Amino acid sequence: MTGYWDVHCHLLPGVDDGADSLAESMRMLRMEYADGVRHMIATPHYRAGMFETPLEKLEAQYDAVCREARRELPGLMIYLGCEFYANMDMVEMLAARKRPLMGNSRAVLAEFSGNTPAEFIRERTAALRAAGFTPILAHVERYACLRENLTLVRELVGMGAYIQVNAGSILGEHGRRCRKFCSRLRKENLIHLVGSDAHGDQVRPPRIGACAAYLKKKCGSEYVNQIFCANPERIFAGISE
Ligand SMILES: [Fe+2]
Repeated sequence: MTGYWDVHCHLLPGVDDGADSLAESMRMLRMEYADGVRHMIATPHYRAGMFETPLEKLEAQYDAVCREARRELPGLMIYLGCEFYANMDMVEMLAARKRPLMGNSRAVLAEFSGNTPAEFIRERTAALRAAGFTPILAHVERYACLRENLTLVRELVGMGAYIQVNAGSILGEHGRRCRKFCSRLRKENLIHLVGSDAHGDQVRPPRIGACAAYLKKKCGSEYVNQIFCANPERIFAGISE
C-alpha cells in the first residue's frame, strides 16, 4: 500500500455537520489527493439525540462519493467508518452493526466531550476491548483529563487504545497550548494516528499535507511514514471498502 491515510474526516455530504453537497465532498477529496492521501476513512458523527443519520442514507452517500471519486481520482481508497460519541450502548450497537466499524475492521473511532471524566474514558476503553474492538480515541488533545495527565494517556495505550490527534492541532490552529500538548505526545511517542477531522473545503478544511510537511521537518520522513502510512496499515488490518 502507498500514500497517506486520513483516518478521520466528515466527508460524506448531508449526513452530519461535514460536507454539504457532493460537490463539496469532491473539493475536499481533490485537496486530500493533492496532499498525497490515498486512503480516506469517512467518519460521519454518530451521537444519540444529535446525529443519528440512518445507516441506509450513510451507505447511499458513501456510494455516491465513491462513484464520483473513482471517475476522477485513480488509486484513492475510501472506506466507511464512524465517529462514535461514546455512550453506554455503543458496544451493543457496534456488535449489532447498527453503526459502521472503521471500514469493516475491528477499529472504532470513539469521541468524548472535552470534560468527560477520566473514569468514563477508561471504562469505555475497557468495554470496547473486552468486546474485541480496537478503540481509537479521537482528537485526545481536546480532553481536559488527558491534557493534564500523560500517565493516563499511557495507561489507556497500555489497555489497547490508539491515540488520534488532529492535523490542525499539531499545526497550532487551535492555539499554542494545544500545539504544545501535541508535541509532548509526539515526543513521548504517544501519537499513533493523525486525522484531518475536516468538515468542509472552507471551514475546517483537510490539512494532512501541511501537517506531514511540518512533521517531516521536525522529526524526519521515517516518523511521517510511521504516522501516516505504517500505523494505519497495521491498525486497520483487514479494512475493506
Ligand atoms: Fe470529527
